[in-house]
Amino acid sequence: EYDFAVIGHPISHSRSPDIHAEFARQTGISMQYGRIDAEPDQFEETVRQFFANGGRGLNITVPYKERAFDMAQPHLSQRAREAGAVNTLWVKDAMIHGCNTDGVGLVRDLNRLGTLRPGIKILILGAGGAARGVVGPLREQGCGLLMIANRTFSKADTLVKEHIALHPQDTGVITACSLNDPRLEQDWDLIINATSSSLGGATIELPDMAFGNDTFIYDMMYGAKPTPFLDYAARHRKLAMADGLGMLVCQAAESFRIWHGIEPAVDAVIEQIRMQLV
Ligand code: ATR
Repeated sequence: EYDFAVIGHPISHSRSPDIHAEFARQTGISMQYGRIDAEPDQFEETVRQFFANGGRGLNITVPYKERAFDMAQPHLSQRAREAGAVNTLWVKDAMIHGCNTDGVGLVRDLNRLGTLRPGIKILILGAGGAARGVVGPLREQGCGLLMIANRTFSKADTLVKEHIALHPQDTGVITACSLNDPRLEQDWDLIINATSSSLGGATIELPDMAFGNDTFIYDMMYGAKPTPFLDYAARHRKLAMADGLGMLVCQAAESFRIWHGIEPAVDAVIEQIRMQLV
């Protein structure tokens, strides 16, 4: 019944069907995009069935991005390989192919917001899947320093070491630290919260000095209200900030481009989805 769908567990909250429906209307492409809730022991079988029944493309969300990566072996894009996770699947020559559009989505949103300039100092909070997916694409934008700070230092350290193994020229530019490292006490150009702390209503505490006059704050989480981290940052100082709704729409736009060969415009869609958030 659907040619496209988002698959996850749970899935009822996913905004992807609305976003892709809007892109389809905008570009005049006709398609049906649904939601699939796959039980943990059913994921691979559900994906295979979907494509066997003529499905053309899937978005993958929590908690299946790593399993989607395994399913798309060896037909993985460079971005998928670097992220170790896949959020976009399609079939070509009867083979499942995978890409990860999260990092491109973040970069596109940050460019839309006018926050990326060569040589800037970026602090990423978190070293889980969300952080891993964006390090490569952010680095390609030519930042001066990209520090990955995580509560569990070893996870940030592993992420950075894996990146450096592939890109030795990034030694010293991409570095890892813990959340109480004194190096956090500097005026960052851009701070990106890639932790899941907001889900539990918590925030990450940072030294005052991390929030400079021109620091831009970005939280990959989003909601009808400012996330706890954005709230916390705003209490420090009046700063430019954004939540991750733009990233969500921009990663969807990149998936849409992979499937349909057309890049949709995002601004109006972001506004429209924003109004639907409760
Ligand atoms: P995701 O795929 O969303 O990145 P994940 O892989 O479970 O999810 O990673 C969650 C990230 O948020 C981790 O970096 C985690 O820190 P730890 O590695 O120390 O567990 C971070 N995180 C979650 N809740 C947090 C909190 N309350 N304070 C600080 N960091 C938190």
